[in-house]
Amino acid sequence: MRCVLVSKSLDLRGYLGPQFIRAADRIEIISHPHEGPATDVRLAVAWHPPDDAFERYPNLQAVCSIGAGVDNILACPSLRPDVDVIRVVDPAQAQMMSGFVAWHVIGHQRRFATYQAQQREQRWQRLGLRRAQDVPVGILGFGEIGRRVAADLALLGFPVMAWSRTAKPAPQGVRGFHGAAGLDAMLGQTEVLVNLLPLTPETKGILNRKTFARMYRGGYLIQVGRGEHLVEADLLAALEDGQLAGAALDVFAAEPLAPRHPFWRHPRIVVTPHDACEVSVEAIGATFRATAEAIRAGRRPPHSIDRERGY
Ligand code: NAP
Ligand code: GLV
Repeated sequence: MRCVLVSKSLDLRGYLGPQFIRAADRIEIISHPHEGPATDVRLAVAWHPPDDAFERYPNLQAVCSIGAGVDNILACPSLRPDVDVIRVVDPAQAQMMSGFVAWHVIGHQRRFATYQAQQREQRWQRLGLRRAQDVPVGILGFGEIGRRVAADLALLGFPVMAWSRTAKPAPQGVRGFHGAAGLDAMLGQTEVLVNLLPLTPETKGILNRKTFARMYRGGYLIQVGRGEHLVEADLLAALEDGQLAGAALDVFAAEPLAPRHPFWRHPRIVVTPHDACEVSVEAIGATFRATAEAIRAGRRPPHSIDRERGY
């Protein structure tokens, strides 16, 4: 079997490294674009594939992402509807994301940004302490990563709510919500909003003026989903009028963030370069091998996403 590496934004061969290539048992790994026959390519590993990439591979059966998200693969116009798309599930990634989110939730609760500003002015002023139990957190997305984030924040003492498309059993200390009515109910009790949704036609633009208006006044946004979830002008307006006290943004509609983008210098926005967490190359390798094995056995690969739902 042949597998093609396809990306316009990353040198996938360098990123995955020689160990990945060596461990690809009985699979020849080639890089796109390449010369020669492409009919025996049945598998691809992709991240931001060029628009016409998959036109060359008529017998392609599965495309593995190198992350939890698959939106950049599904957006590729040359991807046939019958090709399986596989995401990575990596508990270590969820743990890393959980630490990142906890850092921002606690930063808001304990007013770290104000203390940093006070230090720059050499001002000694206590601001008062708030208990975790007085800072309700709402999480959009209750999947592989959202569940871990929710459970860990609940252990830290925050009242945690989590929203999904379908009803889900919730771990101890977490209240589950689902559907449109569930979103409305959760937002009405939310001070810190964490976005951990996949990007789909239904979730695009979900972080908007109406969403922010439903939250507690002086709330905080932690945006770790995808840039296109956020209506940027609505965030700036909500910060301006005080509906939101601040925002931590890790993902952006255009990455890297443009040099003159207003988010860079906004005093109440923290920018990180899509670096909240990552999947390990080992987890990508395990996903890849399980996919190849399933193709050989004529089975649907594990962690294949639902092409209809888009995640
Ligand atoms: P996942 O396991 O697929 O979970 C997705 C969750 O979102 C599920 O609970 C799902 O509901 C819910 N959902 C999807 N569409 C919905 C809708 N229309 N209404 C309500 N809920 C909806 O995904 P994951 O592994 O947790 O990852 C989530 C996303 O995080 C990724 O797709 C990616 O965009 C982002 N991410 C970002 C980074 C970063 O570095 N910033 C890293 C990893 C992931 P159901 O449970 O009912 O299906
Ligand atoms: C990162 O953004 C991922 O989807 O894993």
